[in-house]
Amino acid sequence: MFDFDRVIERRGTHSTKWDMTAKLSGITAPDALPMWVADMDFAAPPGVTAALKAEVERATHGYYADTGTWAAALTAWLKKRHDLTIDPAWVSPTPGIVSGLGLILQATTEPGDEVVVFPPAYHAFRKIILANDRRILDAELVQTAGRYAMDLDALAKKLTPKTRIVFFCSPHNPGGNVWSAAEIRALATFCAEHDLILVSDEIHCDLVFSGARHTPTLTAAPQIKDRLISCFAATKTFNLAGAHVGACVTSNPALKKKLDARIQASGLGSYNLFGMVATEAAWRTGEPWLDALLPYLEKNRDILANRLQSAAPGARAMKLDATYLAWVDFSGTGLPAKEVAARVADKARIFASPGPQFGPGGENWLRFNFATPRPILEDALSRIDAAFADLRAGK
Ligand SMILES: Cc1ncc(COP(=O)(O)O)c(C=O)c1O
Repeated sequence: MFDFDRVIERRGTHSTKWDMTAKLSGITAPDALPMWVADMDFAAPPGVTAALKAEVERATHGYYADTGTWAAALTAWLKKRHDLTIDPAWVSPTPGIVSGLGLILQATTEPGDEVVVFPPAYHAFRKIILANDRRILDAELVQTAGRYAMDLDALAKKLTPKTRIVFFCSPHNPGGNVWSAAEIRALATFCAEHDLILVSDEIHCDLVFSGARHTPTLTAAPQIKDRLISCFAATKTFNLAGAHVGACVTSNPALKKKLDARIQASGLGSYNLFGMVATEAAWRTGEPWLDALLPYLEKNRDILANRLQSAAPGARAMKLDATYLAWVDFSGTGLPAKEVAARVADKARIFASPGPQFGPGGENWLRFNFATPRPILEDALSRIDAAFADLRAGK
């Protein structure tokens, strides 16, 4: 019913992923493959295309108002997929989650305040914190049994009177962890004990593979709801990143008022018509598409992990329960990180996200986006195979 194998030419379409690869990576080969930024190479759900077509055909594209049906669509989606009950009145739309994080920082902290992140963590957290003149407090994740865990005891020792807020990524990018309810509850309790606001970025919550289940932070720890802002979006789930629409959700009216004041002060209280139409249609009609996508992605995950590990002996993909971003540790190959990066970039002509951009702990890693039609994935893996052939010959 949905053809995820179909290759859609994206070069020359203002695609960040495809059209910025040469500029950002220095890989100028015309056949370069982008496996970096988190968008997928698949067509959006048909219901989204139909809603946008109807909008285009009406041909009047004036200001968009009344976010009621949009927030209701999000509310119904969260209930259905995650058994999470929210009130549409708790929702503040923002032009994406990253901009939402910036607005949250401005609403709740002062320049010089510290923001806790759990590296290796989504690099845009770091960027938006620094761009807002706040400071990063790194709470390095530790590896136990092949997955990441938070070390809250170590974090407690690092807190200062300037530490105000925590950016928590659930599921985790780049590790692909689905956090357990107990892990989330421990973090929430920690935030309450140390008077910290908890921002739970759940943009990847719908992209969870078989055997794992996402627990919303609000479900795991309702007792800290007054200090919690949860972030949701249709853009990652349904491949609508260019729509630039996100939702910041808090049941605390005072916190919401502060955030909404920042939204107004930034002139962002009016919304992008096409983004709102696309994301509402996605929540309302996209479920069969998502249900078909997840097994396709899961198979890509397994193909990539297996082939990569046999192509480059010693390389190891972290066990990935969610997201379409494989997090691969190359330290076991015995090659210096620079050499690995050069082989992937120059020999394989693949732009993977460099591990160091995710902060401490990312030094020997690369992140590969595998949300691409299988013919492209196969091409990428053959190239990686060739780029590390000498390692296998030497075995
Ligand atoms: C954890 C996380 N948050 C936010 C975003 C981006 O959100 P937006 O495009 O809505 O700013 C991403 C994109 O990869 C992400 O991985």
